[in-house]
Amino acid sequence: MNDERRRERTDGESRDMRVIVGVTGASGAILAERLLQVLRERLVEVDLIITPAGRYIVKHELGAPEKLEELATETYDIYDTAADIASGSQYAGSQNRVALIVIPCTMNVVAKMAHGISDNLLLRVFDVALKEGKKIIIVPREVPLNENHLENLLKLRKMGVIIIPPLMTFYYKPGRIEDMVNYIIQKICDHLNITCELVPRWHTDNTSKMRRDAGDDTRV
Ligand SMILES: Cc1cc2nc3c(=O)[nH]c(=O)nc-3n(C[C@H](O)[C@H](O)[C@H](O)COP(=O)(O)O)c2cc1C
Repeated sequence: MNDERRRERTDGESRDMRVIVGVTGASGAILAERLLQVLRERLVEVDLIITPAGRYIVKHELGAPEKLEELATETYDIYDTAADIASGSQYAGSQNRVALIVIPCTMNVVAKMAHGISDNLLLRVFDVALKEGKKIIIVPREVPLNENHLENLLKLRKMGVIIIPPLMTFYYKPGRIEDMVNYIIQKICDHLNITCELVPRWHTDNTSKMRRDAGDDTRV
């Protein structure tokens, strides 16, 4: 952990939330990068775990895994299952509000989480977060989805996991990839109760205007 981040971590006022971010080998490393930027701007403490395939994808899509690591408070080795965050005691006794976000999340990790496999640090943290009743958000990315994927995602939803697929959304008139990314990050922040206004929100005024523009005078 660098000194500046360590100082921030011990500054009681700025630290009331701790988010563990897992990055896996699905396409969409830009989503992880943007989330880490937003959390950092809001002084949220971030523990980062990247799978080996995640490192490969981050390198391919962003240039270097270090781009993510320098945005985190601390980065953990995926095989370090003795790390502090692998223990339930870290969560139960902590005054921090702890959450786990896996972004982007592979179908491999979805399957392992759905079936209770915890043979690396990220999967162990999922297991612990689940048993300690912490908020868990995943951003699963694959296309198209097969029967296994869908069944596993349903299993996770039934366990209380919040599932935010990185779907394209158009009603707020995105012009750039960054707008699409911000839309997903805003959704995640909403679920974490973190103030985040990255894209315009929908208002009924928009609906009225849209109907008028379309030549429909019906009141909504
Ligand atoms: C360029 C590239 C893109 C990939 N995109 C995805 C993806 O979007 N979703 C997915 O589930 N797997 C994807 N994979 C496959 C995973 O990286 C692979 O299954 C890997 O074993 C996952 O490891 P992990 O789950 O430990 O990160 C991709 C692989 C490559 C090389």
